[in-house]
Amino acid sequence: MAIVGAGKRGEAYADYAKKHPDQLKIVAVAEPRAILRDRMAGAYGIPADRCFDGWEALAAQSRLADAVAICTQDRMHVQPTEALAPRGYAILLEKPMSPDLAECERIIACIRKHGNLFAVCHVLLYTELTQKLRALVRGGVIGEVVSIQNMEPVAWWHQAHSFVRGNWRNSAESSFMLMAKSCHDMDWMRHIVNQHCRRVASFGSLRHFKASEKPAGAAERCLDCPAVIESACPYSAKRIYQTNFGRDWIVDYLNDVITDGQGTRENVDKALREGPYGRCVYACDNDVVDNQTVMLEYDGPVTGNFTMTAFTPTIHRKSRIFGTRGYLETDFIKITVFDFVTETETVYNTSIDANSATAASGHGGGDYHIMKAFVHAVATGDTSGIHSGPDATLESHRIVFAAEQARLEGRVVELPREPSC
Ligand SMILES: NC(=O)c1ccc[n+]([C@@H]2O[C@H](COP(=O)([O-])OP(=O)(O)OC[C@H]3O[C@@H](n4cnc5c(N)ncnc54)[C@H](O)[C@@H]3O)[C@@H](O)[C@H]2O)c1
Repeated sequence: MAIVGAGKRGEAYADYAKKHPDQLKIVAVAEPRAILRDRMAGAYGIPADRCFDGWEALAAQSRLADAVAICTQDRMHVQPTEALAPRGYAILLEKPMSPDLAECERIIACIRKHGNLFAVCHVLLYTELTQKLRALVRGGVIGEVVSIQNMEPVAWWHQAHSFVRGNWRNSAESSFMLMAKSCHDMDWMRHIVNQHCRRVASFGSLRHFKASEKPAGAAERCLDCPAVIESACPYSAKRIYQTNFGRDWIVDYLNDVITDGQGTRENVDKALREGPYGRCVYACDNDVVDNQTVMLEYDGPVTGNFTMTAFTPTIHRKSRIFGTRGYLETDFIKITVFDFVTETETVYNTSIDANSATAASGHGGGDYHIMKAFVHAVATGDTSGIHSGPDATLESHRIVFAAEQARLEGRVVELPREPSC
């Protein structure tokens, strides 16, 4: 496999080759940041003539691997896909395909034209928990599904890091929030309900992380803020990046991000003094929402509702599914089913670690299991384990675009049934 974009996600997928060197070898890397390119080349023994400073140089070569993982930022997915698909690579593409519907359609048209094996990294579909839950629901354990609730608890520090100070803070530069974060959820709900979504409504706003919420006397940067204000601020960069330095894996992960992989105390201090992650959360150039709800109606009819909110502790998603014969709920660690006839409760435990709750983690095993399914599909041609192929992904991205349109225009948006879905 070749890795395009050796940032956090490229690193996460390449890691499968360390666990299963008999199944996967990383043979090429395309990454403009020399530190990250060299780190990946060193970790996987990639020779210098297979290290490129961008996807452009990789695409100029004849095919160097069976597969490529495209892990560039949200607005940089369509170009490498269109350049690499004609070379015949099997393509693992990071979500979202694009924050622009026309670009999503271009990606799918390109994949259909060249017939590439293709999976989008909707990793939640691949966890053991999701596969167990899907089997239970499709097996009729709660009868027919009538409605579904889903909640995405982003966590206060994660919102501040990624969606106020960081890469996904500004919709013109990256994606709108529902696409950046909750395309996973719209996709997961569609996967479980297994019905076409007919129409959506949505509400949401940037309620808190804006200038009008800035405490009087607060500085533009946390390191300059008066102690009395900084110490009481939940979003203090000092607290998020410096407290628990070296003692908490989330802090270490974040520090790796803000220092381009060189997370020493000195580099973290410098990043907070000079870089975007040291800014006051009320003085950034962010515009993405910090809370949003979506109401959905699927064929069936099945109704759904979804909440994304920044204002939570570090926990997994939570979902409830209401059926004609029973009720199911999950905290994404275990599944609990209540049967209306026997009035008994059955709990299904999974191997998910309750502490690996965040987007910085392996997504409840999803990062590992999507790689397992993808590598198996490339090796054998058996694509039955790919749940996020072109049709399913385009359909769930369309739900996200429609929901955002509904929020912006204050109306219910209908989703026509596409012939390909
Ligand atoms: N599946 C998930 O659950 C999940 C989680 C987080 C992020 N993501 C998505 O993954 C993607 C990458 O996110 P990330 O956190 O790894 O970002 P990142 O910034 O850490 O990595 C992206 C990398 O692409 C590199 N890049 C830029 N131009 C390039 C070019 N021309 N050729 C090759 N590489 C180039 C950048 O230098 C950077 O290292 C984003 O689209 C993001 O939304 C998905």
